[in-house]
Amino acid sequence: MNEYILEMDKVSFGYRDGGKKRMILKELSYGFEKGRFYTILGPSGSGKTTLLSMISALDVPESGSIRYQDKDLSKIGYGKYRRNHMAIIFQKYNLIDYLTGLENVEANMEIAKNKFNGNKKEIAYKILNTMGIVKTKADRRVTKLSGGEQQRIAIARALAKDVDLILGDEPTGALDTATSNEVIDLFKYLASEYGKTIILVTHSDEVAAKSDISLRLDDGQLRQIKEKK
Ligand SMILES: Nc1ncnc2c1ncn2[C@@H]1O[C@H](COP(=O)(O)OP(=O)(O)OP(=O)(O)O)[C@@H](O)[C@H]1O
Ligand SMILES: [Mg+2]
Repeated sequence: MNEYILEMDKVSFGYRDGGKKRMILKELSYGFEKGRFYTILGPSGSGKTTLLSMISALDVPESGSIRYQDKDLSKIGYGKYRRNHMAIIFQKYNLIDYLTGLENVEANMEIAKNKFNGNKKEIAYKILNTMGIVKTKADRRVTKLSGGEQQRIAIARALAKDVDLILGDEPTGALDTATSNEVIDLFKYLASEYGKTIILVTHSDEVAAKSDISLRLDDGQLRQIKEKK
């Protein structure tokens, strides 16, 4: 057993463009440690979303392997891994349109079958409240909320899953600076106090500066550019 919660070993993946194959990730190896807050920077098109789709098992590497807590994702089972061990927050919130914010959060609690003690609804309201979504807004259909509010619900939904690995693809992109800072502080807190591993893709140097470790995806490889002592 090593200290990595997630380990990528020589992961390669590409897309077929017309007849031609273009490699996006090239034998990428990196180990993510438990309880740390990572950011991933990189130019548009460098493959950051592709990398997250590997880590979240939405796509499978062509070669190489990914291990969660020392176990190959294929061994855990991709569906089981997605349901029970990780949560992801997308650039576009991907909420269920016809449900309220509260119901979106509850649905995710159901999926993870997590072990929260107490009334599920109360807990969902509480988590939403932490994200600045008061009850009247939590009870509204998500299509009737602003982009920033929808993104906060998406983050609450990820937190409600109570898993050890939280991934985000530009999760603060739709938020104003103050709210974005609050959310980033919350991620920092979850990493340092609850041992959650947070991996966020971002274009913001400011967000990256707040993380423990920032990485850069370039030419199919991940390189560490900064580590906070
Ligand atoms: N399904 C697909 N089929 C073919 N090419 C794809 C597919 N998805 C992504 N690509 C290409 O792969 C490259 C990497 O895309 P990706 O979305 O991972 O980049 P990114 O770093 O997330 O960019 P951004 O910062 O703009 O979100 C891009 O050139 C993109 O056009
Ligand atoms: Mg992207």
